[in-house]
Amino acid sequence: DIEQKVNDLLGKMTLEEKVGQLNMVSNGPLLRWDDLSSGRAGAVLNFNNAQDIARAQAAARQSRLKIPLLFGLDILHGFRTQFPLPLGEAAAFNPRLSRLASEWAAREASYIGVQWTFAPMADLSRDSRWGRIVEGFGEDPYLGSVLTAARVEGFRKGGLATATKHFAGYGAPQGGRDYDTTYIPRAEMYDTYLPPFRAAVEAGSESFMAAFNALNGVPSTANPWLQTEVLRRQWGFDGFITSDWAGIKELIGHGVAADGAEAARKAILAGVDMDMMGDLYIRHLPDEVRAGRVPESVVDEAARRVLRTKMRLGLFDRPDADPTHVDSVFPSPEARAAARDVARETLVLLQNRNDVLPIPATARSVAVVGPLADAPQDQFGPHGARGHAQDTVSILEGIRRRAAGAGLQVRYAPGCDLFCRSQDRLPEALEAARASDMVIAVFGEPVDLSGEAASRAHMVLNGHQAEILKALAATGKPVALVIVGGRPLELGKLTDLIPAILMAWYPGSEGGTAVADILFGDVSPSGKLPVSWPRTVGQLPLYYNRLPTGRPTLEHNRFTLKYVDEAITPLYPFGWGLSYTRFTYTDPAILKQRLRAGEVLEVAVTVTNAGARAGQEVVQLYTRDPIASRSRPLRELKAFEKIALAPGEAKRVILRVPVDSLGFHQDDGTYRVEEGAIQVFVGGNSLAEQVGEVSILETIIRPGSGQR
Ligand code: IFM
Repeated sequence: DIEQKVNDLLGKMTLEEKVGQLNMVSNGPLLRWDDLSSGRAGAVLNFNNAQDIARAQAAARQSRLKIPLLFGLDILHGFRTQFPLPLGEAAAFNPRLSRLASEWAAREASYIGVQWTFAPMADLSRDSRWGRIVEGFGEDPYLGSVLTAARVEGFRKGGLATATKHFAGYGAPQGGRDYDTTYIPRAEMYDTYLPPFRAAVEAGSESFMAAFNALNGVPSTANPWLQTEVLRRQWGFDGFITSDWAGIKELIGHGVAADGAEAARKAILAGVDMDMMGDLYIRHLPDEVRAGRVPESVVDEAARRVLRTKMRLGLFDRPDADPTHVDSVFPSPEARAAARDVARETLVLLQNRNDVLPIPATARSVAVVGPLADAPQDQFGPHGARGHAQDTVSILEGIRRRAAGAGLQVRYAPGCDLFCRSQDRLPEALEAARASDMVIAVFGEPVDLSGEAASRAHMVLNGHQAEILKALAATGKPVALVIVGGRPLELGKLTDLIPAILMAWYPGSEGGTAVADILFGDVSPSGKLPVSWPRTVGQLPLYYNRLPTGRPTLEHNRFTLKYVDEAITPLYPFGWGLSYTRFTYTDPAILKQRLRAGEVLEVAVTVTNAGARAGQEVVQLYTRDPIASRSRPLRELKAFEKIALAPGEAKRVILRVPVDSLGFHQDDGTYRVEEGAIQVFVGGNSLAEQVGEVSILETIIRPGSGQR
């Protein structure tokens, strides 16, 4: 069996060869090919075509023990076919689609020989200044857990091993500044930030990646509590952990290691098995072992984890990448169809006064304005892998194709360049608007303002976008704004001036088709916000599942929770999203009022499509423990179900929540569900109405290992 084979192999390896397995190097000008052929590298990243992968693997096969390399790449939301970015994908509230998107991404990448993705990113974030919020699923631990598990399953099904990242707390840097320090109490780690990672372990994630930043003063890369106590001991994870890029070297910058040797020692002793692009394990670990500062058994164990994973993945027996495989065989029509299906469900209709959308059948012409309408590359968002602009249906193209069928004239004027540095091209845009029946304005956040190292202090529509939008609104033509971008943006007065706003995120290769499907009303929007949308950056961090205070907001009492210069509520709440139809919720019923450990809270509700169009609704269930030994959130999402309803159709939906998931953690990881009342809310967003209350008849305590 595998453990026996790993032991046999370890028995034949020198110390240097074992450490070689712990070294990950990148393709690029700095790559030393003899590291591959001499067993001084166990994994590589950034090889993205079959020829190079085959060549590198052939080099590794020349090494003494012929141990195959593991090929990793950042495959987040597609390889050649680009699916929407994860934050958009989260808005679909549809784990089936998350699985589908990841499966396609994995199928395409593994076709050319990639074996391992640095995904999913399970970092929850409540602060949209942080640029990487786009790579995750937003602010909610339950939604995040469901979707992280779905993404792990999808990637694995499509043939990629996963590195769930960034362990842990990376999404809560102070001030939303990428790489900055995070302070999160342990109980809060267990309740909020860790559940998606745990879901990844349970879904079979083969590896994890340590976060760059420090958690409560201890860098994650040298944090034994995270990497060993929680991940390995409490959760039983037996795969391997890699650092992030140069993360081990950066322990020196963090001020916890004096030099490379100490950094290597601290990282491996904390439980980080692999050094991504740091060169420190390979340079220092053999000497650290010989000097007795690192037990050889620690290196053996790390090498064992890497080899075990390689064997589980079948790398020793699999044929090497076929150099004739090229990614230009994608996107296939099937992949495109999947990308379109996913993208449609990610679009969130934030507001739609006067039913400006869908574009009325009576319209004869539309003006499409905005540089992001014609920016295919920016539809990919960060980590576009092998996405090609020429494979991509831009929003303009999507609208044009659909309009042609409807005999609708389309006038396009970009209005400004991608960064909207001037208003020189405004007259042209106004002319197009005045000559048309309505305006579709496509603005937002070019990809360079989103993703890693793209934190923003001003979350506005950059450049002159707001002025241009105001001028368009002043023409008196109905305007629908389509926002392309990776985070909620400050909209200010635009929400009054522009009647319809559709959040499109970065919608991918079929983004244009999907946006057109929604704009023309062929499909009703069904996306719901996976993040609370702030009115202004000053409200951040902002999240719906906050704790109560002793001074809840009272409009006429100054000395309550509020700002003197801004509302306390978000502009659009978590879970929010409109449709072209209307859903009503009636006859809620809690099926059993008094519950014990092991039982399931079941809530039934009838959801009716009371409008004239078919649509999908995300039925959401929230709970609150109003009196507990510790303050508990005002609301917590505990279940959701997405349903499709024809006009007039009604469905009885039953949402289920295990009683054992209604509790919270203590600092040591003990999980408690406390006896007493739990309030239940059901509806189409996080402002859902309370439908009743249940009683938990006994306190449930699960020590040590956290929530199951
Ligand atoms: O996977 C990424 C990580 O998220 C950020 N640093 C680089 C890694 C590999 O590209």
